[in-house]
Amino acid sequence: MKRLLIAAALAALGASHAEAATVLVTGSNRGLGLEFARQYAEKGWTVIATARAPETAKDLKDLAAKYRNVTLEKLDVMDEPGINLLANKYKGKPIDLLINNAGVLGDTIGQTLGGFNYANFQDVMGVNVYGALAVSQAFRDNVIASQQKKIVAITSGAGVISTGSLGGNVYFYRASKVALNMVMKGLASDLRGKGVTVGLVAPGVADTAMRRELVGERAANDLKPADAVSAMIKVIDGLTQENSDKPLNFDGKPLPW
Ligand SMILES: NC(=O)c1ccc[n+]([C@@H]2O[C@H](COP(=O)([O-])OP(=O)(O)OC[C@H]3O[C@@H](n4cnc5c(N)ncnc54)[C@H](OP(=O)(O)O)[C@@H]3O)[C@@H](O)[C@H]2O)c1
Repeated sequence: MKRLLIAAALAALGASHAEAATVLVTGSNRGLGLEFARQYAEKGWTVIATARAPETAKDLKDLAAKYRNVTLEKLDVMDEPGINLLANKYKGKPIDLLINNAGVLGDTIGQTLGGFNYANFQDVMGVNVYGALAVSQAFRDNVIASQQKKIVAITSGAGVISTGSLGGNVYFYRASKVALNMVMKGLASDLRGKGVTVGLVAPGVADTAMRRELVGERAANDLKPADAVSAMIKVIDGLTQENSDKPLNFDGKPLPW
């Protein structure tokens, strides 16, 4: 018993001296991404908060001014040279958790029957699918080198095919989340042997700019971004290679495909 207590005390001492875990978030200037940056900063993580235009991201700049553990970086997930430049800057730095959060809804008229627009399709698929894959590829060695070894992509109930409850709008956005699920499964398979957990986590319906683009004002049941993100962080904390075989909702329940 005495030996156990000493071991526990030593472990606690070790934990208090352990280096803080590091998270990289894409699209962290607003909405759910900003909340991820804020909540991980509050928890004492080292936060690499990326955004397309950090110089004009007021809320993010305020966050970085408040927390010394937040570093702002420029990252457009559609800019491959830019992604590689940033990955090169962080070469050798362990990143425990990469959150592929950046996403676009796209123009809703351009993805409704009668108005289909290819440029819109490319934009939505590019950001939501290729962007997440390109960033994951570029930073995979950082994740492999870390303690927690997690890559997460923010998926959506809008990408669930089997519920059949979806109407005829936002074809491209929905298709992009189905495709995101598929490419992340591929990544999970390729990185499994390296000890990496690749998870798909959905926020439910949260009151962000994207949500308002779709429905106008906040709907009564919409989650506050802070609540959606704190719930998703719990899910991410508990992610393992075993339980990440399906997308998980913010409440921890598996989402059907
Ligand atoms: N809100 C919901 O209910 C809900 C539900 C299901 C899934 N999601 C998913 O959650 C994620 C976050 O969405 P949100 O609701 O927080 O929406 P949001 O407020 O519209 O935020 C989207 C974020 O993505 C960034 N972004 C867009 N294109 C980018 C690019 N090329 N490179 C880097 N960043 C880019 C935006 O940056 P800019 O400001 O520069 O455009 C912004 O920071 C998305 O993947 C979305 O599909 C949201």
